[in-house]
Amino acid sequence: MHDVLHCLFNTEIPFEISQYFTDIREVHDSPESGLYWDGKVLAFHWYDEHHQSERREVFEFNQILTDLARKLGPPPKELLGKALGKEAKQLVWDLTAGTGRDGLNFYLWGHDVHMFERNIVIAALLIDALRRAPELKERLQITYGEASKTSQSETPDAIYYDPMFKEDVKKSRPRKEMALFKILTSGDDDQEEVLDWALNSGAKRIILKRPVKAQSTEPKATAIFKGKTVRFDLFQR
Ligand SMILES: C[S@@+](CC[C@H](N)C(=O)[O-])C[C@H]1O[C@@H](n2cnc3c(N)ncnc32)[C@H](O)[C@@H]1O
Repeated sequence: MHDVLHCLFNTEIPFEISQYFTDIREVHDSPESGLYWDGKVLAFHWYDEHHQSERREVFEFNQILTDLARKLGPPPKELLGKALGKEAKQLVWDLTAGTGRDGLNFYLWGHDVHMFERNIVIAALLIDALRRAPELKERLQITYGEASKTSQSETPDAIYYDPMFKEDVKKSRPRKEMALFKILTSGDDDQEEVLDWALNSGAKRIILKRPVKAQSTEPKATAIFKGKTVRFDLFQR
């Protein structure tokens, strides 16, 4: 059901979104869970059982950027910025785009960013967000799919990997933004495989986000940047 694109009122859907869907249905309201194009914006409608509320998810990159600009310190102060290092203007691949928030951190710090997202609904929301913020396209691109399985002509300087933690999937009341991932994805069971691919991809820095208490990986991280609940393991190559 989630890979159906609903089109309200027979409006024309931009090709950058419609190209990923073969099942496009014209409807006249949006009562059920699903992805809806209303002529201007792509939205995902769903019922969040954990927070007992109807939700409408639209990604707004400029809103996220404004938010981040207010909250974020300069890169060396942020744990993620520390993990990325001081080198200016890197090409960063964000293997697990999700809401795009972490990837937009890198964008805000002046880097070129390539986000990947394998869930079709989340990818469509991201692609629509970028369509509505075209000024970001100079330094930001989004690919639907997995970095390891799509052919790319570039080699990133840094790779960021933030899979869905098993703990988040199990929690009965996930944080609000995690609830969306919980209903759309079944947890990322291929973490070892993806990390292994990233470590051998030619990137100089690989950053893995994990719960602070997670077991250490093999091979050992070059450095670990710990927060209260999460940590960033840095692997330098
Ligand atoms: C925990 S969320 C990432 C959150 C993200 N860092 C943010 O700022 O919102 C994980 C996301 O990555 C996607 N994902 C997981 N493994 C992936 C892979 N190997 N390639 C592409 N997308 C992946 C999932 O579908 C999910 O949307």
